Amino acid sequence: MKVVIDCDDAAIDLKKVIVGHLSAKGVEVTDLDYLGKKSGAYYPEIGFNLARTIKNGTFERGILICGTGLGMAIIANKVEGVYAGVCHDVFSAERLRKSNNAQVLTMGARVIGPELAKMVVDAWLVSEFQGGGSQPKVDQIRELERKSFHPEG
Ligand code: RB5
Repeated sequence: MKVVIDCDDAAIDLKKVIVGHLSAKGVEVTDLDYLGKKSGAYYPEIGFNLARTIKNGTFERGILICGTGLGMAIIANKVEGVYAGVCHDVFSAERLRKSNNAQVLTMGARVIGPELAKMVVDAWLVSEFQGGGSQPKVDQIRELERKSFHPEG
């Protein structure tokens, strides 16, 4: 599985921890390092940049980290076909995949510590969409998203 990661200025240390953790597990992780290319960039363009790499199929899963995880989730969800959620606990991380089929996990470096963040990432990484009763719900998200992005029909 190809995982992509990025963060804003609030989460540089936690991003390093997660990159190291994934690499040690043998997971192929690519750090887009948007800040390294554009110093001072705000979270919206950093998150948007990563979400587009999910939409275009370059990567299957993405991790975005900012101060709270909130701004990154908001912006990643603005890219059609990309679904993101904030998780600071293992149960939510599992459900984000199993129930919501979200490709992007977001976390807040000012909310969660490194050890729990690693556990959250691990739970999200091994979980897959379960379909079943969740399928019509995510289909409905798709349908409503289409109306929102393409109101002309
Ligand atoms: C800091 O820029 C902070 O606003 C950001 O990291 C994030 O928490 C926003 O949701």
